[in-house]
Amino acid sequence: MKTRVDELLSDVKDPELKEKYRYLILTLLEKGYFPGLEGVPVIKSGISHIDGENGLLTYRGYPVQELAEYCTYEDICYLLIYGDLPLLKERVQLRNELFTKKDLPASVSKVIVEMDDNLHPMYMLSSSVLLLQAEDQECACVNDYMLNYRRGLNLIAKLPSILGVFRNKDADFAAGKEFDSFAQYCLYVFNPELAFDKNWVNVFEKILILHADHTMNNSTFSVRAVASSLASIYASIASAINSLSGPLHGGANERAIKMFEEIGSPDNVESYIEEKLARKERIMGIGHRIYKTYDPRSLYMKNKILPMVFGEDSIIEVDEEMVNLYEIARKIEQVVLEKLSGKKLYPNVDFWSGLILKAIGIEPEYFTTIFALGRILGWVSHWIEHMKIRNKIFRPEQLYNGIGTRHIILDAEEESATTNNGI
Ligand code: COA
Repeated sequence: MKTRVDELLSDVKDPELKEKYRYLILTLLEKGYFPGLEGVPVIKSGISHIDGENGLLTYRGYPVQELAEYCTYEDICYLLIYGDLPLLKERVQLRNELFTKKDLPASVSKVIVEMDDNLHPMYMLSSSVLLLQAEDQECACVNDYMLNYRRGLNLIAKLPSILGVFRNKDADFAAGKEFDSFAQYCLYVFNPELAFDKNWVNVFEKILILHADHTMNNSTFSVRAVASSLASIYASIASAINSLSGPLHGGANERAIKMFEEIGSPDNVESYIEEKLARKERIMGIGHRIYKTYDPRSLYMKNKILPMVFGEDSIIEVDEEMVNLYEIARKIEQVVLEKLSGKKLYPNVDFWSGLILKAIGIEPEYFTTIFALGRILGWVSHWIEHMKIRNKIFRPEQLYNGIGTRHIILDAEEESATTNNGI
């Protein structure tokens, strides 16, 4: 069989593609289906690209580290949506447009303020995105491209406001306030004081940029799957937020910081990890489907952003509790690299990000919403791109393993009673 597969693949010249096809054919032969759709291409897209073997992530061709180092949130928004980095004038225009669109309709903010405090912010966020549809009665018309751009920017602009209104229980949150940048506004939602410290804005902006897009991850796949039924942008983005909330996806950042807190001290790390592995449990913030080496976003966070907060020359102050959590994280990293690098498992972006978010004073249940504030740029870009392609509704197959066909056997007496009653 292997020879036959090799024969079939002999015409494929690109070695990377050849390897991918070989993996897919062998999986199909071995398992009969593709668990978790691993390795299965479902779309052609020009937005981002991952080279998992070499730890490279690019947005529209640019390595993510360069973008995090030199660009603003508005630049990345422009790059992902329109395909190229903006000129200065275009950046300013986009910033103004986002600020013009940022306030919520009164009917929506009123509902958000009344939402139960016990509602997890991620469910609040997805529900509120759906509420925004009320002011877009034409949302079923998805093939007006110019309108789609405006819809996308409108959602990007309103996401922080939804969080600000809910978290502060203030329907007029930030109405009429002015900000220098959109990242500053996003930080203002969580910490109005730090939002006026440019070092913290810089740190926060980098985090948003690192999360902006990541090829066909679970939430972006959700956008594409829902969009393929030609459902509205509201339906698609709300699904993506729900997908992101899961602990195996964006929800890992909330769980990772809780794990650091549970461990309590660097001295407890080794035994904690050993016990977890012995029970075959997952360590939150570790591992990735695509990367077979250190995730470049995670590496940038560890080497460039964390030293800005915890390094010797840090220009930002953090307390002892935060330093302890940072030490715990570093120890976990060391133990994981020793014990799990054979399986090509490394700390991912959710492992490190929570340390910075907690240092900003953000509650862990809001961590994944910050991931969403970054990823909304990618989700919107994918939705817009999807509406331009020759669409085919996502409708995969299953291998049925349920009961064979069977029939309802009617009791003769019951049957005649039913018939008589019918008369
Ligand atoms: N802790 C311990 N072991 C892990 C692990 C983790 N976090 N992630 C993967 N593994 C192990 C699995 O047990 C498996 O081992 P085995 O081959 O001996 O059975 C192997 O690595 C492959 O795991 P698999 O479940 O096939 O990987 P996946 O590609 O389906 O899953 C993740 C990828 C991200 C879902 C997975 O790594 C995970 O659950 N990580 C923790 C949650 C997380 O941080 N998510 C955020 C991702 S950005």
